[in-house]
Amino acid sequence: MNYEADRILNTYLLFHYGTREEILAGSSLEGIGAASFSDACFRFPVATVTDTFDLEKGPFSRALDLGCAVGRSSFELSKVAGEVIGIDFSQSFIEAAARLGMDQTLRYRRYSESHLGDDLFASVPADSIPERIRFQVGDAMNLPSDLGSFDLVHAANLLCRLSEPLRLLKRLPDLVKPGGQLVLATPATWLEEFTPTEYQPEGLTLDYLETQLSSDFDRQTVTELPFLIRDHQRKFQISTSQASLWIRR
Ligand SMILES: C[S@@+](CC[C@H](N)C(=O)[O-])C[C@H]1O[C@@H](n2cnc3c(N)ncnc32)[C@H](O)[C@@H]1O
Repeated sequence: MNYEADRILNTYLLFHYGTREEILAGSSLEGIGAASFSDACFRFPVATVTDTFDLEKGPFSRALDLGCAVGRSSFELSKVAGEVIGIDFSQSFIEAAARLGMDQTLRYRRYSESHLGDDLFASVPADSIPERIRFQVGDAMNLPSDLGSFDLVHAANLLCRLSEPLRLLKRLPDLVKPGGQLVLATPATWLEEFTPTEYQPEGLTLDYLETQLSSDFDRQTVTELPFLIRDHQRKFQISTSQASLWIRR
């Protein structure tokens, strides 16, 4: 998949900033019971922050959002942390997230059929504090050595997009402060096109994470979070992501 393409950028802007009504508009899903889809399907990049971390322990000083895409979770983290760094491999995603933070709104395209669409506007989420966020292009498997450590580290739907997830997992003990919180959410859609088989977990992803992380982290809650991504009005992807919370010893 080419994340630089406009189409993917627009798809992610709708996924992160669209309302339920905007995402379902004109869709044929009503015929198969879309009205019964829970609201949780439409707030995934918020839920990976609010329904996973123990936010009662805040406010926090630093948060890191790895694979932040167009930034919705980073905006959510800015409500609870004084400094947020959002990192993504895609320059166009990072530019869109940064532009939204600066301009407060950002125009994007929603597709009705593959080649047709209309324009919508993403808005900076209410109560978020864009001035606290720095969006930067980077590689989660090769992060800058001077990034420092964080109270909250968030990586949603990133692991199974990495060619060598272990390179990120090995860096995590340095990135999370003692007592700090780590959320890893993954649908565990392991594909050879992203992760060569030899670098994929042999067994269940949660067992693999436990093996790799347990010398430095204690596992806490595990939550299944649903998400619905619209490609066009007749094509949607519905999945769940397994979100695990880990505390750095
Ligand atoms: C499936 S999307 C998930 C985005 C967002 N966290 C969410 O939950 O909606 C995966 C994201 O990871 C980014 N990505 C892929 N490989 C990366 C890498 N090596 N380092 C940083 N980001 C990466 C992609 O550009 C994309 O934005």
